[in-house]
Amino acid sequence: MKIVIGNDHAATALKFEIVDYLKSLGHEVINIGTDTTESCNYPEYGEKVGRMVVAGEADCGVLICGTGVGISIAANKVPGVRAAVCSDTATARLVKEHNNANIIAFGARIVGSELAKDIVKAYLDAEFAGGRHQTRIDLIHEIEKRG
Ligand code: RB5
Repeated sequence: MKIVIGNDHAATALKFEIVDYLKSLGHEVINIGTDTTESCNYPEYGEKVGRMVVAGEADCGVLICGTGVGISIAANKVPGVRAAVCSDTATARLVKEHNNANIIAFGARIVGSELAKDIVKAYLDAEFAGGRHQTRIDLIHEIEKRG
């Protein structure tokens, strides 16, 4: 898969670990930064990853900030994005199966690197279940259209 990854300054070290992990699984990774620990603004990275995923420039996205919350809120402002913050592997699996999340997010100040890798793996290994879940996703996108 082609996976785009973005983060803020709180998550740079973990981001590099996840990039290496994704590559070790055979994925192509597009890293849009930040690559330093200099303070920056997470909305910029959330939006960029969101736009790339919706445009089809990547199959899915990974976002990391201190909590995973701010950067996912930003990404979710891009129409078509379904970014989900996960701190456990069961949620990571279910956000693909039920919500067809196209971006997974987590917090570098919340999860350790081993759990973060397991979260990403659980998400990537899962498959969207479709059916009634697609109906609900369609309803979410109706909300977007209403503005
Ligand atoms: C940065 O200090 C922090 O606010 C950010 O990484 C994130 O946790 C916001 O949701």
